[in-house]
Amino acid sequence: MTENNCEERKPKKSIELLQKENGFDVLEGTLGPSVVDIRSFYKETGMFTYDPGFLSTASCESAITFIDGDEGKLLYRGYDVKELARNCRFMEVAYLLLFGDLPNNSKSQDFSNEIKSHTLLHEQFRNFFSGFRRDAHPMAIMVAGVGALSAFYHDSLDMNNPEHRLRSCYRLIAKIPTISAMAYKYSIGQPFVYPKNNLDYTSNFIQMMFSHPAEQYEIDPIMARALDQIFILHADHEQNASTSTVRLAGSTGANPFACISAGISALWGPSHGGANEAVLRMLQKIEGKEGIRTFVDKVKNKKERLMGFGHRVYKNYDPRAEVLKESVHEILAKLGIEDPLLEVAMELERLALEEDYFIERKLYPNVDFYSGIILRAMNVPTSMFTVFFCLARTVGWVAQWLEMIDDPDMRIGRPRQLYIGPAERPFIKMNDR
Ligand code: CMC
Repeated sequence: MTENNCEERKPKKSIELLQKENGFDVLEGTLGPSVVDIRSFYKETGMFTYDPGFLSTASCESAITFIDGDEGKLLYRGYDVKELARNCRFMEVAYLLLFGDLPNNSKSQDFSNEIKSHTLLHEQFRNFFSGFRRDAHPMAIMVAGVGALSAFYHDSLDMNNPEHRLRSCYRLIAKIPTISAMAYKYSIGQPFVYPKNNLDYTSNFIQMMFSHPAEQYEIDPIMARALDQIFILHADHEQNASTSTVRLAGSTGANPFACISAGISALWGPSHGGANEAVLRMLQKIEGKEGIRTFVDKVKNKKERLMGFGHRVYKNYDPRAEVLKESVHEILAKLGIEDPLLEVAMELERLALEEDYFIERKLYPNVDFYSGIILRAMNVPTSMFTVFFCLARTVGWVAQWLEMIDDPDMRIGRPRQLYIGPAERPFIKMNDR
């Protein structure tokens, strides 16, 4: 772009344009900032609004999750996530996110049984894995495998039928753990382990991941509880990049398996769900407490990024990180593990939080900072970390997708742009170029 071009694109008029005769409606939510309804802005002014990265733009109404980034608060359907993580099981929270209220005992049982009735995959699905290299990243298998579910379950693809929609969502919640465990087993060359429906959701996932037919396997209740808590903390996070991807794909009428596969692709990136894997690799690269000072200096000089720190919405401690920081000591102690990376992480956090660079920018640990150390203590390989996130977030994605389909304001998502390419010019034939 030429300097002249830049000059031309300097803002000319200001927000006065928003002061149209009768103004634009301001819509009030239950909590959080109000929004200016600019749906008629283009019609009224002939202009678009410009907000790359959605810094000030609400893309939908939602009654599911609320974040107060300044206070460091996260609510699922009005309940503080910290209380849910300390007191609930993951399937109760899944019910809450999907249906709006915490279930009583019998509703909770019925819901768990419904999910369990979908844990098996079509037997032909096994063949799918052999097309992958053994060293394929498991997230690559997740993107492909979950999208491929639409080729197997034709009886739940009618988006206009509420029963189909719900059945697809149950299938996604139930089958993603099975696909995840199979992706792992494939990578290490062990036989696939089938689901066991006498187990709860998380214990079943643990046995599919870590047991094998040659030996008896006992599920460690400490591990099951810790993992359940991690799943609760990752279950939903309002309109983040992957959820917005699910909604955008869903707004076209695409089937939910395809939409969730799109969400998994967005989650994979290191700025989003891929950060938990990146944190572990970063802690290993720092090479002990001695390396921390140098690393922090590199971050301040923008030569490195402190993974597991910072958030678009939280300008305070991420409440999920707070719970995990508490649990990590307890879990490692209970499992009898001493991990030098925990010491590196704690010292890194302490040092970073004292530095002006982080204070001025309000950068605090996020959910990914401590989760990897807990997963590592459970012998979960680093490449599977984002898959665990994906499994938990599936619940949020399907809840948001269901909400979107029922929203009378839902239209195909179609952002506009500020075009900065060449104006129309005459075509030049090949020999004249
Ligand atoms: N390390 C160093 N500097 C940072 C970091 C970080 N982790 N995060 C933000 N900054 C700096 C950034 O360079 C910028 O500085 P300056 O004002 O000098 O240009 C300032 O802080 C504002 O950051 P930003 O990039 O404008 O913030 P954003 O809202 O666009 O990005 C983020 C948010 C999460 C992508 C970013 O903080 C980041 O990359 N963090 C590391 C990756 C990570 O942990 N991601 C997981 C997020 S939580 C789980 C999830 O949502 O999946």
